[in-house]
Parts: sequence; C-alpha cells; structure tokens
Amino acid sequence: MTVRVPAKVNLQLGVGPIRDDGYHDLVNVFHAVSLFDEVTVATAAAPEVRVQAAPYSRVAVADVPADQSNLAARAARLVAERLGVDAHAAIRIRKAIPVAGGMAGGSADAAAALVACARLWDDRDEPVLGRADLVELGAELGSDVPFAVLGGTAVGVGRGERLTPALTRGTFHWVFATADGGLSTPAVYAECDRLRAEQGTDAEGTPAARVSEPLMTALATGDAKGLGAALANDLEPAALALRPSLGRVLDAGRDLGAVGALVSGSGPTCAFLAEDEEDAADIAEGLDGAGVAAQVLRAYGPVPGAMLV
Ligand code: C5P
Repeated sequence: MTVRVPAKVNLQLGVGPIRDDGYHDLVNVFHAVSLFDEVTVATAAAPEVRVQAAPYSRVAVADVPADQSNLAARAARLVAERLGVDAHAAIRIRKAIPVAGGMAGGSADAAAALVACARLWDDRDEPVLGRADLVELGAELGSDVPFAVLGGTAVGVGRGERLTPALTRGTFHWVFATADGGLSTPAVYAECDRLRAEQGTDAEGTPAARVSEPLMTALATGDAKGLGAALANDLEPAALALRPSLGRVLDAGRDLGAVGALVSGSGPTCAFLAEDEEDAADIAEGLDGAGVAAQVLRAYGPVPGAMLV
C-alpha cells in the first residue's frame, strides 16, 4: 500500500498566547504544495522503518529516525490499536520533502502512514476509519498531521489542528530555498516567546491571532500579488534570530521579483511566491545562481492531501 503525501507552506502563521498545555493558540493557514514523500506499508512479523531519499531528490535523510520513534511508525501503531488488529507494519519512506525544514515532512509521513495502514488493515465493507477519523487521529500525533491528511488550503485553529477548508481559485507557483541543517520547531517557538518577553509582552498576554482577510480574499480570487503581500509568519523573527543568514535568502528572492517571501513554518526553508510559472522558473534560476540556498525547489499549490497511488 503506497501513499503519496504533500509538503505544506504556511501562508499565515499567527502565533497567539501560550496555553496551559504549553502549546500556542494559532491561526494557521496551511497550503499543500507539490513536493511529495511516498510511504509504503506492508504487514510484517515485526515493525520496521526504512528511510531513503526519493529518486532525483537530494534530501538529507540521515537525521530521520529509522526506528519506532519515527512519526510514521507511531501512526501505524495508532491505527492498529484503534482497529484492534494485532499487526505490525514494515514502512518504507521515500523523502522529497526537506527534513526539519518547516514544511511538515515528518507530519506528512505520519499522515501517509495513517491512510496506508487504515487501507491495509481496515478491510471491512464499511471502513471503521474514514477520512474524518484519520484527520482526528492525526491530531494525536502532531499539530500538522491532520492537514497533511486533508491537503488543499485550510485554516487551522487551536494548536493548528482544528481545520476548515479555504476557498481558493487557480494555482499558485512557489520556489523553495532549503538550508543545510534543520531548525527545531520547539526551539523556534521558545525563541518567539523569548523575543516577545524582551519586548515586554509575556507569552500569556499576547493577543489572540486573527485570520487575515486580505489573505483569504487573495486566495479566493487567485490573486498572486495580493497573496504575496499578505503572507505573514509570526515565527519568522525567531527563525531569523536563530539563523541570521536567512535574511539574505529572503532578500535575494525579493530582488529576483518574488511577489511574496517568507520563512516556511518554523524554518529554515524560505518560500517565495511567483506571479506565474515563468517568473517561478526565473526566481529559481536566480536563487540557484546566487548560491544562497542548499537546494532550490519548485512547486505549485494547492494539491490534495495523502492519497493512495
Ligand atoms: O504538535 P507538534 O509535535 O507538531 O509540535 C511540535 C512542537 O512545536 C511542540 O512541542 C511545541 O513546542 C511547538 N508548538 C507550539 N504550539 C503549537 C504547535 C506546536 O508551541 N500550536
């Protein structure tokens, strides 16, 4: 059973006050883009995880755990437990999504494993675990997992896991600049709290985040320029503080004509929105030439979530 699952970029990541459980209240506009991992599962006598770079991709997979701590392995165990089956999964992951890059690659693999294992083990005529159940199960694994099941473009609130699909028109063209070495998501949130404290706002006193109306309008009308101007990531100052070199990457993309530029999620991948496909090709070529990125990738969005191939 093989499932293809997309990466995400956050069009808006509004970080609100910290909650009692240590998570931040978010407004998170997720957008699935055409960089895909492939996850294959088979029933096995003992659990197993193998991770490799997808053909033609230069993703560094050394930092992905190839043991039972892998989020995809946890997803498989969760499905077995929920279905009450006594089965183990051999999981093979082919990665094209940058690792620890702020594009939810690990969450994507977990979402793919949920969908694949449900199909593998839920063999009744009426499946016990429908897509909505898998979205819900995903929230137990991580804040970004439910969106990777769903795909498209969606607004997430709470930890980011309570999702509403957003209205979009047409296709948006993206260029991504990856960096060597990931950034840890918890470390970036902690830096965000520290910067806010320095500016005199404590983590609990931060105002609630709100969905950007100009952003939703640009999505609904397929307006790339409007979307570019409305892109916003509250984690960006923290990612830039931890990795100052990202400032040069963002500037390079803007100078090359990107209509929008931001750090993707908790970084360090930088995302550039192009006005059209041709501009995306030019921006990608320019960024490659500038030598500011480990790798330059092109993608379009929105695309569907985790799907059987
Ligand atoms: O839920 P997930 O494991 O994907 O989140 C990773 C880390 O990101 C959390 O442990 C937390 O430090 C931070 N986070 C947060 N607030 C959120 C989502 C994630 O502080 N809403």
